[in-house]
Amino acid sequence: MELWIATGNKGKLEEYKLTLNKVPEFKVYSQADLPHFTPRPEDGATFLDNARIKAKSVKALKSEHWILGEDSGLEVAGLNNLPGVHSARYAGPHARDSENTAKLLKMVQIRTAANRQAQFKCVTVVLTPQNEEWVFEGELKGQISLKATGTHGFGYDSIFIPDGETKTLAELGPAYKLQHSHRAHALAQFLDKLRSGSFII
Ligand code: IMP
Repeated sequence: MELWIATGNKGKLEEYKLTLNKVPEFKVYSQADLPHFTPRPEDGATFLDNARIKAKSVKALKSEHWILGEDSGLEVAGLNNLPGVHSARYAGPHARDSENTAKLLKMVQIRTAANRQAQFKCVTVVLTPQNEEWVFEGELKGQISLKATGTHGFGYDSIFIPDGETKTLAELGPAYKLQHSHRAHALAQFLDKLRSGSFII
């Protein structure tokens, strides 16, 4: 079976492949494997809207296969749950991860010295070969660190300390995220559903 991951984010794709490449029934591809693919604007109001936009844009070209679209982001309590769906573009339309994290640290310091509670959210839309839609959600709670530390991962990993930990995700590394991340939780539900439907063993 072919599974197409509808993302252009290399960090996310690496994380998906760490798990999905171990599922023998799947051969995993992404939109980077489509020569003339143009992503549609992610103009939805919610993670679910945007995950659906991404999944459908690849489904239009690969209708007979499994498609996984995902939208995720960081919600910070002291910033009224921003950046949320705007996480990838928080510091501007083509902002680098380092610019987004720098802006977020600054905003938290200015606005709310006290409230650094935050959560990563991930909404996954899977479109089956029969064009059924399956939706899965995952989250990871924690808090924003005082400064960026660590070298692993992507996005806001260097400024997010999961509850119960003292290090950032960028220090904890890929093995930690594989078990505990918002993405891992949503992906585990997808794999459970595939097993319960006997699509995979
Ligand atoms: P999008 O889902 O492609 O719109 O982008 C989600 C954005 O949220 C990423 O560009 C990151 O900035 C952030 N994000 C989502 N998941 C993670 C994660 O696991 N670690 C760090 N940042 C993340």
